[in-house]
Amino acid sequence: MQTPFYQYDLALLNETLDTAHAQAAKYGYMVHYAIKANANPTLLKVISDAGFGADCVSGNEIKTALKNGFKPQSIVFAGVGKTDWEIEYAIEQNIHCMHCESTQEFHVINHIAKKLNKMARVALRINPNVNAKTHKSITTGLKENKFGMSVEEASLIFNSANKYKNISLIGLHFHIGSQIMNMEVFKNLAREVNRIQERLQSKAHPYLNLGGGLGIDYNNPMINRIADFEGYFKTINLWLKPGKDQTIHFELGRSLVGQCGQLYTRVLYTKTTKTRSFAVVDGGMNALIRPALYGAYHCIENINKIGQPVNQTYEVVGPICETTDSFGEAVSLPTTERGDLLVIHSCGAYAESMASDYNLRERPQCAFIRNFELEKK
Ligand code: LLP
Repeated sequence: MQTPFYQYDLALLNETLDTAHAQAAKYGYMVHYAIKANANPTLLKVISDAGFGADCVSGNEIKTALKNGFKPQSIVFAGVGKTDWEIEYAIEQNIHCMHCESTQEFHVINHIAKKLNKMARVALRINPNVNAKTHKSITTGLKENKFGMSVEEASLIFNSANKYKNISLIGLHFHIGSQIMNMEVFKNLAREVNRIQERLQSKAHPYLNLGGGLGIDYNNPMINRIADFEGYFKTINLWLKPGKDQTIHFELGRSLVGQCGQLYTRVLYTKTTKTRSFAVVDGGMNALIRPALYGAYHCIENINKIGQPVNQTYEVVGPICETTDSFGEAVSLPTTERGDLLVIHSCGAYAESMASDYNLRERPQCAFIRNFELEKK
């Protein structure tokens, strides 16, 4: 297949989904897949078939979820900037609920629901000011972040909720960040949620959503292929004190799809300047923007030189006219030549979904492995 291309291992995806499902089922938890991590329709069908709900952040994500087998009742909708048509569409499709992020949005939802002569199910997204101890750019639950509302604001809404005749206020939503590896953070979240629930007296409401954020091992993707779902759900179960009729929801993205995808790219040129050696590859930041955007690490291997001594250091760069178009400044590889195929691991989440056609480059095609056979889209 023409490089660069994404390759998805559907057997690994199924194994990951089975593990997540089994661990969540121990506690009766409901998991929604965060579509923003990867909206590839082949993956979405596998995930909806496996019984997961969907977490959407735009009207188009809701449309895509419905088209790929997710039931309206399994869909939740978050986002700090929902447009009127998106709210209208969510209400008309009768999705499970919307996560409302401000008092003004609450008014707008009520107004639109009234116009449609419908009831909108809404949960309030609270910004709990819990430090996710992850990268600054993917932290969402600190008070300086744009997401959610304060407990004080939520309290005012709770106290006046019966004035909003077209909203059914069903509970609370939280999401504090992404790529969280430290279980202590989830313990802190659960304890803060307990405090907030006491303060808002929200335990009688049926819905409680703790968001996503469980991380994957970017350093050892071949060894740690499946995220620590067991530790994650166990930690939440240990510390969270929900109301007895509350259903606990999660919105996992990266941990469900991150390790099942890889980006394959071919070396076009190698060159050595006064300061370093470069391997120039045909895939760029338009196919995988995480290193350029967050300085994120992705493990890179040279498929043509497996088993050869890792004796060189290259900056692996793409063809885009930006200095940040780099997959790593000092990547240890065997001696690498024009024509070699490199694999960039852990590209199942936030790679294809964040791809662009910058520099008018083609978006990479996709290949799928089912039972070790490679299939082209
Ligand atoms: N729920 C909400 C409200 C979210 O904002 C997110 C991710 C998730 C769930 C899913 O989080 P996950 O389980 O995937 O951590 N592009 C960045 C990640 C941005 C995450 C944004 N929100 C990256 O490549 O690291």
